[in-house]
Amino acid sequence: MTRRTDIASYLAEQRKLAGRCSRQIKDFSVFEFHHVPDEPLVRDECKTLIDELVRFEISGIATHQAIIGSRGSGKTLTVKYLQRIVSSQTDLDFVYVNCRHHSTTYKILAHLLGVQPRGPSLPELFERFCRQHSRKTVVALDEVDLMSAKDRRREILYLLSRAERPFMVVMLSNNPQVLKELDAATRSSLQPVPLHFRNYNAEQIAEILRARAQRGLHECDDATLSEIAALTVRLTNSDARLAIKTLQYAVMSSDKELRACFEHARRDLVVDLISDLSDATLMILWAAATSKVDFAKEIYARYSRFSRQQREKPFSYGYFYSNLSYLQSIGLVALVSTKKERTYANRVQVTFDPVITSEICSLRFNR
Ligand SMILES: Nc1ncnc2c1ncn2[C@@H]1O[C@H](COP(=O)(O)OP(=O)(O)O)[C@@H](O)[C@H]1O
Ligand SMILES: [Mg+2]
Repeated sequence: MTRRTDIASYLAEQRKLAGRCSRQIKDFSVFEFHHVPDEPLVRDECKTLIDELVRFEISGIATHQAIIGSRGSGKTLTVKYLQRIVSSQTDLDFVYVNCRHHSTTYKILAHLLGVQPRGPSLPELFERFCRQHSRKTVVALDEVDLMSAKDRRREILYLLSRAERPFMVVMLSNNPQVLKELDAATRSSLQPVPLHFRNYNAEQIAEILRARAQRGLHECDDATLSEIAALTVRLTNSDARLAIKTLQYAVMSSDKELRACFEHARRDLVVDLISDLSDATLMILWAAATSKVDFAKEIYARYSRFSRQQREKPFSYGYFYSNLSYLQSIGLVALVSTKKERTYANRVQVTFDPVITSEICSLRFNR
C-alpha cells in the first residue's frame, strides 16, 4: 500500500517535472487540434478549391466540391483557413458546420441560424436560411458521411443544390463511399466534383511540425521533427494529428524515447476514434479484431451473431462492407484483396492493438 505522504511527495515531484518540461513551451495552443495557424502549409489541392471559389464569386455559378482524404490530411484545417480569408477578402459569405455534431438537415440549419432545433418546419427553416444569406454563400459541411441515418437522403444537399439563391456546397469526408451513397436525385442536381487530398509525405508533415515548433516552443531540433514525420508516414496514413500529439508528448516528457511517445499518442487517438463509433460499427470492428480468420465473410458471420446477441438486427453484407470501408478510411482497418481458390476474397487487417476494442466493447455492451 502507498502511504499518503508518499503520494503527496510523488505529486510534488511530478509537478516539478511537468513544470520543467512545460517551460520549453511558449504557447500551448499550438497543440490543440482545432488550432488554425496563420500560415498553414498550402497544398496544391487547396489552390484548385480557391480557383473554384473565385469562379463562383464572379459568376454566381457553383461547382460543388467534395473533398475526400484520410484522417489528418488537413481537410478541416484547409476549409477553416479558407473561411477566414474568404470572409475578409471576397464578397462571398462562408458558413461552416460539422455534421458529426449537427447530424440532420434540420439541426444543421438550426445551428447555422443560431436557433433551437425545434419549432418551425424544415421548409420554413430553409426559407429563413435563404433570406439570411442573400449574398453568394459557400456552405461547408464537414464530416458529411456522419450525418444521421434518420436523414439518409442528406436532404440539405438537395435543398442547397436546388435553391434559387446561389449556394456553393463544399462537403468534406474521410470516406470516399459518401459520393456513391448519395441518392440519384441529389447526385444529379448537385454533381459534386471530387477533390482528393493525398496523404502528406514526410517532408510536409515535418513542415507542419516545424511551424508549430517555431510558434509554440522555445527550442526544438530539426532531427526530432523529421523522425516524428518519418514514423507518422511509415506507420499510419500520415495523420498530421498524430504527429502533433507525438511532438507534444516528446516535449512534455523529455526522458521518453520518441518511439514511446509516438505509441502513446497513437493509442490515445485510437481510443478516441473507437469511442466515437456507433454501436453497429463498433460491433463490426470488434468482430474483425477478435476473429481468428481474417476473411470478410467470416467476420460478417461473427458480427451477425454478436449483433443478434445484443438484440440488434445485423446489417446486410453490402452495408456491413461499406462500414468496413469507413473503418478503413479512418485508419482502423486495412482491406486487402487476395486470391482464394481461383476467386478473390477480401481480408480485413486491424491496424492497432485489438485489446482496445474489447475493452471499449465491454464498457458499451453487457458482455
Ligand atoms: N497544411 C497544414 N498546415 C498546418 N497544420 C495542418 C495542416 N494540415 C493539417 N494540419 C493540422 O493537423 C491536424 C489534423 O488536420 P485536420 O484538418 O483536422 O485533418 P482532417 O480534417 O483531414 O482529419 C490539425 O491539428 C491541423 O491543424
Ligand atoms: Mg476533419
